[in-house]
Formats: sequence, structure tokens, C-alpha cells
Amino acid sequence: MTAQWNFDQIIDRADTGSMKWEPVVLNAKFGPKSQNLQPLWVADMDFYSPPCVRKAMQERLDHGIYGYTIHDSGYDRAMIDWYRRRHNWEIDPSWIMTSPGVVPAVNYMVQRFSSPGDHVLIQSPVYYPFAASITANGRRVCDNPLVCNNSRYEMDFKDLEKKTQDPRVKLAILCSPHNPVGRVWTREELTAFGDICIGNNVLVIADEIHCDLIMPGHVHTSFAGISQDFAKNSITAVAPSKTFNLAGLSQSSLIIPNPVIRRDMGIFFETLGVGAKGSGTLFGIVAAKAAWQDGEPWLEALIQYLYANFLYLKDRVESKLPGVKVFDLEGTYLPWIDLNPLGLSPENIVDVVEKKAGLALDHGNWFGTNGAGFERINIACPRPMLEKAVTALIGAFKA
Ligand SMILES: Cc1ncc(COP(=O)(O)O)c(C=O)c1O
Repeated sequence: MTAQWNFDQIIDRADTGSMKWEPVVLNAKFGPKSQNLQPLWVADMDFYSPPCVRKAMQERLDHGIYGYTIHDSGYDRAMIDWYRRRHNWEIDPSWIMTSPGVVPAVNYMVQRFSSPGDHVLIQSPVYYPFAASITANGRRVCDNPLVCNNSRYEMDFKDLEKKTQDPRVKLAILCSPHNPVGRVWTREELTAFGDICIGNNVLVIADEIHCDLIMPGHVHTSFAGISQDFAKNSITAVAPSKTFNLAGLSQSSLIIPNPVIRRDMGIFFETLGVGAKGSGTLFGIVAAKAAWQDGEPWLEALIQYLYANFLYLKDRVESKLPGVKVFDLEGTYLPWIDLNPLGLSPENIVDVVEKKAGLALDHGNWFGTNGAGFERINIACPRPMLEKAVTALIGAFKA
């Protein structure tokens, strides 16, 4: 908590259509009668968005005319300044397109840059809409599973080299930082990844939606900022939605330095009827601009709060449930917990989490078979809510 922003404040989200809290969604996702589970699953935060965002939206609301809206040069400028200042990445305005979200954008890119039957590479355990975007579009998942060395997930470059040599692999989706294992990939790791993809003619989709949520001691490297070659062989998807809690505003950007790929994407956008530069939403654009211009102090305070939440979680769970591993959180607000050392089956673990602890968490096997027996917990909530959940989790497994 800071004097200025009270992240400890508990805000009632009932009847706001919140996917995370809505009983109907909990019942559908976690089974009948799950409406009372405490939700720490889908990745949005139980905090207010920064005051600068709410003020800008209020002013725009008060204007009273909500006509067709473009992402204007003000949006581009705010975004360019943000990525230069925070990530040392120089984006040219001509590279920017907009999309209603990163997940829709990933689906568009799969459709545009691969053909039915082609293979798309992902690195499990990973954000499950990636696999869904591949299979829903009639492509096949090519998995390059992460490996866990000394309690730290790493990329398996030997396997990556082998898999990308298959000419059917046309695309690789990079999750950077990685949801759910919490890694912030180093420049060296990204360079090795990018070199292998270029060497095998595999186009990289870099999903960097979590790039602002970097915990102390770590630095995010923008994949396309590493070299001109990487810039030319990639499309980066970014959004202010995780950073500033704006997911319901459906606003994201695609950064496409390669003019040929950009032209292809523009033609594809036209087939969707959204204009060659893609589409945004009025309030998404207003909120993003305000957040990038004035949201930095709020973000700094948020990161401190999230990191303190993480340290609390790790300390409590590891000391009370010996053997259980809470992986170090380098980025995101989604710690990854290995409950397998408790000796229960993955099904039993899910059962204890839901039925005994009363928690709605993202179950590890949703992210890939190698996630079985793991749980992903969303710690972007006021400390009292986290304390309640952690106490319930520990109590349930101790029992
Ligand atoms: C890696 C990753 N990509 C994309 C998204 C969602 O993006 P959007 O809401 O813009 O579709 C999430 C949300 O958790 C995510 O973790």
C-alpha cells in the first residue's frame, strides 16, 4: 500500500459482469455448485485502474459523442514513448496496428501466416488459448516443452532445433514473459530462440502482454528489439490490459516491422472488415493513452505490492507445506505452484483445491499435460483476500 494508492482496499465486483467472479462462469468452468469458490484464476486484478485512466475515461464519457474512433497519432506517440522509456525499444509509428485483444490477434496471425494442416510451435506449460487458437483453426500443435532445471524453467533448444526443422512448422508463439511459469527470458535465451526460428524459416509471434509486470531484479527484453533480423521475422503483440487492469476494454497492438508481413496483415484485416490498420475501441484507446502517459508511478507501486504478495505466498506455502514448490516469480502476477511432492494424484489435487480449500485457481493441466499437479494462482488482489486464500489452501492440504 502507498499513501496514494490503496491496493489493500477490497472492491465488490459482484454484478459487474466480471468473468473472474460471475457465478455462472465459475459453475461452467469449475463444475456445478462452484459459484462460491474464491476466484484467483483468470488474469485480471481486483484493484482499481490508475486514477489517470479513470479521469481520462470520465472526461471522454462526458464529451457525449462516441463515434467511430481511430488509434490516432497521440495513441501511437504514447505507446512509442512508453516502450522506449520502459523497454529501450524503438518502435516506428508505421509498424503499429491495433486489435481487439491479444488472443484475437493470435488467432488472426495463425489464420494469416499458416495454412490448415500446418504446425504451430508452443512451449508448454503455456497459456492455453495458444493451443486453442491453433486447433480451432485446423492447425496442429507442435510442442517444445520447457524443461525444469534446478527449480527454474528453461527452453529446450535441442528439441526446438529438431522440431523447427520440420517444414510443416510455420509459426512459433513465444510467451515473453512466460505465463504460467513466471520466467522473464534473458536476452541470451531469446537470441538462441530467435536464431533457431530464423534458421528454420519459422515466423515468431511474440506475445509480450506481461512485459510491464517485471519483478525486482529482472529486466524484460523486447524480442524484436534484439536485432533487425529478429524484428523482420516477428510480430509482437502488446497491450496495456494486464499492466493497468483494462482487459474489458479490448485493446491491444501488433507491432510489425517487416513491411511485407505488415501488408499481408493489413489485407487480412480488410477481409475482416476492420480496416487495414486493424481496429481498436474508443475507451480502449483513451485508457491506453492515459495509462502510458501518466500511469508509471502507479505501476511502480503496483509492482512493489505484487512482489510483497508473492513473497508472502511463497513463504507461507513453502514453510507450511514442506516439499511444495512455489516457483520464483520473475514476471507476471501469476505464480506457479508444484503440489506433486505431496504425493496426491493430479485429480486429487484439483479436488482438494476446489472442494476443500474452496478456491478457483487455474489448474496446471490446462496449460499442458506437463502441468498436471500444478496450480496457477492470481495474486493481483488485496492482501487480505490473498491471506484468506493461502490459509484455506494450506489448511486443505494439511487436512
Ligand atoms: C500470455 C497472454 N496472452 C494474452 C492474454 C489475453 O490477452 P487479451 O485479453 O488481450 O486477449 C493473456 C491473459 O491472461 C495472457 O496471459
